Amino acid sequence: MTFVAWDNALLVHVDPFDEHHKHLIQLINETHEKFQNKELGSELGKLFEELIAYTSYHLAAEEEWLEQQQYPDLEAHRTEHAYFLRRIEELHREFLAGDVFLGLEVITFMKSWIINHIAKTDAEYGQFASANNR
Ligand SMILES: [Fe+2]
Repeated sequence: MTFVAWDNALLVHVDPFDEHHKHLIQLINETHEKFQNKELGSELGKLFEELIAYTSYHLAAEEEWLEQQQYPDLEAHRTEHAYFLRRIEELHREFLAGDVFLGLEVITFMKSWIINHIAKTDAEYGQFASANNR
């Protein structure tokens, strides 16, 4: 069973962010699959790094776009992003320090944060974009 299933209700209808979100969910699923298969070594570590790098790229791209659009809730949005990045970097450091059980904790945390963030906070800029024909 897929760990995180894509749901079209998550579409924000802003290019290229729907594609970014799908890719992030795919990376989370791949990470989860590796974890399930007990690939706890460097393979999983590499995927975590890829996840963090892609997340950081995506969040920065969103912030840049929101800034260009003079999005009114940009600061609150930035704060949510900053919290998330700080937290996954912290969890990644703990993972590297050798806590093998942390894998699932990180993946589950990422899953719930990503889904909640896309469904609520990103959905708000989706509505803003459609109301302003962006
Ligand atoms: Fe966002």
